[in-house]
Amino acid sequence: MQIYLDTANLDEIRTAASWGVLSGVTTNPSLMAKEKGADFKATIQEIASLVDGPISAETTSLDADGMVREGREFAAWHPNVVVKIPSTTEGLKAVSRLARENIRCNVTLCFNAVQALMAARAGAYIISPFVGRIDDVGVDGMTLIREIVQIYRTHNIPTLVLAASIRHPRHIVEAALAGADIATCPFKVLEQSMRHPLTDIGIERFLADWKAWQQGR
Ligand code: E4P
Repeated sequence: MQIYLDTANLDEIRTAASWGVLSGVTTNPSLMAKEKGADFKATIQEIASLVDGPISAETTSLDADGMVREGREFAAWHPNVVVKIPSTTEGLKAVSRLARENIRCNVTLCFNAVQALMAARAGAYIISPFVGRIDDVGVDGMTLIREIVQIYRTHNIPTLVLAASIRHPRHIVEAALAGADIATCPFKVLEQSMRHPLTDIGIERFLADWKAWQQGR
């Protein structure tokens, strides 16, 4: 399973990219809005210069014509741009039109497996089921990942399953076990994932023993 970063913050992207773990980046309008004064096109192009992999840029039109217009524009910014389109019927229309032009689409805000099947049939490159937001309403979000993975495998559907709305390290583990192709994670969750008290205690002990051994030589 590949790891994407879910952010539009360039410092976070630079840091996570330096760890050598990033295969792509996802953004959305809410993440962009956190970057006060930033320009959308410049941000996406800067991200593409930092990470060599798919970079999702989200459309904000509600109608297919508008989504297609935005999608064509975003795709011209950089070859790694993937156009993010919501799971609606207008979205399906836009995805099928963009796919015919070889523009890759990430169908976002997916909350059931039928949306995922329809998005794939329309030609989606990626489907983004929102695990955390489903958990928030008291339903197990990871079940949706398992259902989509099973449907896609059973029917030889090449659309990539991206576990989105990841809230904690255990979501990453479960998404990988469920067979997701990608998990897109907030920076905080990636950082948290590498922290373990036994790792810190282990380093401390090794260093103390090393020091004692050197002093006793
Ligand atoms: C996916 O690409 C979305 O940007 C994201 O994962 C949404 O997550 P949230 O529920 O934390 O906003």
